[in-house]
Amino acid sequence: MNSPKHVAIIMDGNGRWGIENKKSRNLGHKAGLKTVEKIIKSTIKNKIKYLTLYAFSTENWKRPYLEIKFLLNLLESFLNDKLNELNKNGIKLKIIGNIKKFPKNIQSNLKNAQKKTNKNKNLQLILALNYGSKSEIVNAIKLIKNKKIKINEKSIDRFLYTKGIPNPDILIRTGNTNRLSNFLLWQLAYSEIFFEKKLWPEFSIKDYNRIIKI
Ligand code: FPP
Repeated sequence: MNSPKHVAIIMDGNGRWGIENKKSRNLGHKAGLKTVEKIIKSTIKNKIKYLTLYAFSTENWKRPYLEIKFLLNLLESFLNDKLNELNKNGIKLKIIGNIKKFPKNIQSNLKNAQKKTNKNKNLQLILALNYGSKSEIVNAIKLIKNKKIKINEKSIDRFLYTKGIPNPDILIRTGNTNRLSNFLLWQLAYSEIFFEKKLWPEFSIKDYNRIIKI
């Protein structure tokens, strides 16, 4: 395969890794963020232009309140601490999903980070937050109907959150679960899918390279 333009990842297994290694699901999420940072660096090094990470699904609201709070805090500190680094490394941040359900301060941090990194060209880092693929597709069709435009593949493409972004060449899911879990169902129609046994915090650059260099 030619080197991929776009890699999408379902980062599964943080909770299990946390319980097994630190007796805490939340510490698994914290370790997962370290893997995120490593993978972003390696993506840039490999000149891959788009990286989509499933960071919070619509299903994640069913988790215990304290775990949700921990995940939102991690996101907030990522935005606060890493904005300069995103700019230094030429990373453009793009959010897909319905962020209206997030606390107001996170919504404005997300908007601010997208605005401040908008001109960067090295890598587009796409974070899926409160994202669900079926509702994305339904929403696109509603918008098309409102605008009285013809419904076809092209018009649907234009009204998805991912408008203008090439479809992923590769999807990786860690955590030994072989499902798509309502992630990018339309966009993954022709992607190559890799289900990995390792949990996300233990997924290494070597594992990543093995997949993207096939
Ligand atoms: C799935 O593991 C992972 C998540 C629900 C959250 C992913 C979040 C991070 C990696 C850290 C934050 C990232 C950013 C970009 C700020 P799981 O908890 O469902 O694992 P399990 O299947 O073992 O329970």
